[in-house]
Amino acid sequence: MTELNTLPADSPSNVIPIDYDIFDDAIRADPFPIYREIRDSGPVCALTRHDVFGVARHAEAKSILENWADFSSASGVTMNSITNEVMNGSLLQSDPPVHTQMRKVVMRPLAPSQLSGLRGRLTELTRERVAQLKGKGPIEIVGQLATLLPLSVVSELVGLPEEGRDNMLDWANASFNTVAPVGHPRADAGFSVIEGMVKYLTDPSLPSRLRPGSWAAGLWSEVEAGEISPDDFSSVVQAYVMPSLDTTIYGMGNLIWLLASNPDQWALLKSQPALIPRCINEALRLEAPVLGFVRQATRDVEVSGIAIPEGARLMMLLGAANRDERRYENPDLFDIQRDARDHLAFGAGIHRCAGGNLAMLELATVLEELVKQIDHLELVSELRSDNLGLRGFSEIEMVLH
Ligand code: HEM
Repeated sequence: MTELNTLPADSPSNVIPIDYDIFDDAIRADPFPIYREIRDSGPVCALTRHDVFGVARHAEAKSILENWADFSSASGVTMNSITNEVMNGSLLQSDPPVHTQMRKVVMRPLAPSQLSGLRGRLTELTRERVAQLKGKGPIEIVGQLATLLPLSVVSELVGLPEEGRDNMLDWANASFNTVAPVGHPRADAGFSVIEGMVKYLTDPSLPSRLRPGSWAAGLWSEVEAGEISPDDFSSVVQAYVMPSLDTTIYGMGNLIWLLASNPDQWALLKSQPALIPRCINEALRLEAPVLGFVRQATRDVEVSGIAIPEGARLMMLLGAANRDERRYENPDLFDIQRDARDHLAFGAGIHRCAGGNLAMLELATVLEELVKQIDHLELVSELRSDNLGLRGFSEIEMVLH
């Protein structure tokens, strides 16, 4: 299978070629100097290794994401042609009117009014867990705390039978590895896992085994009522399964790691818990969990003076846009008083994260309990995840004093 080759041979003369492999492990470990180089090269660069344009400035990334008519998702939002084929027609990879209809269905259980009833249960679980971990010497915070709410509550809300719930983390991890181009060993290894997921979600016996009252069970009743097709059912369940766990777990790990690494900001948060929402947005800005997504130009179009030909593909580098010095003063600084609500960690426009409210609720619940119960966060060690599409930690050793 050939990759989508979309950089025109005669790329516009005002586009600077950047010859880095953004999936290289050494670059992934600290991509920020290269992100700066890409931003400084112009509003759009040519990522020659990947045959796509790269967009790393905040204003341009935001305006492209908000312009679905000129920059489509339908032909695939990853750099991997097989993934794009597998995801064809999904919520993530569709434009209006298909997207509008499917998004309405996906959003039903994720609207703030639906989520407010969850708060008590999330708080109770977190309160108990933080109390258990307090004072214990070094504990691994990703496994012990960051996964708690996504694994215990969110996977239950989705409603798959037990063996499906057990696989959700593997499926999510594999999905985000397969955003990298075909030929990358970790992307290629992800496909057999994804195949297993698709087989599981399209198994005719699945609907009868869903947890009654769950999101997936609610969806199946819409199939039975003739409101959505069985194909839409597995596509929407996939939209709940793949992006709902790892993204939030990584976001939570990043948030706790940033606070432990910046004791002055932790002290400030302890003295002013009203800063919790700002603190979460600032952590999502500084350490965006999702690398980015691709769009394709539907016509010849200009982006800040650069001609983008019809059919060209553009990679939005969300973590780079979030540190754009044109938008944020001292962008590399973790400043919990900053109003960073316009960060692009959740994307922007019609595809803006459907689970953003749920993720914010989970993050806020954990942070509230930490602020209430813990005086000092002692960082012992950390291990970065090697996932190709996500930025975060697989392990963080800490003592919660
Ligand atoms: C901190 C946690 C999260 C982050 C950083 C994140 C990030 C993102 C981003 C960047 C997009 C935009 C994709 C694009 O523009 O092509 C997105 C879309 C999406 N996210 Fe999240 N996400 C998170 C949590 C969740 C959760 C908890 C769910 C739960 C159901 C979820 C479900 C979705 C869905 C269904 C979409 C597709 C929306 C569409 O195409 O209309 N996400 N997410």
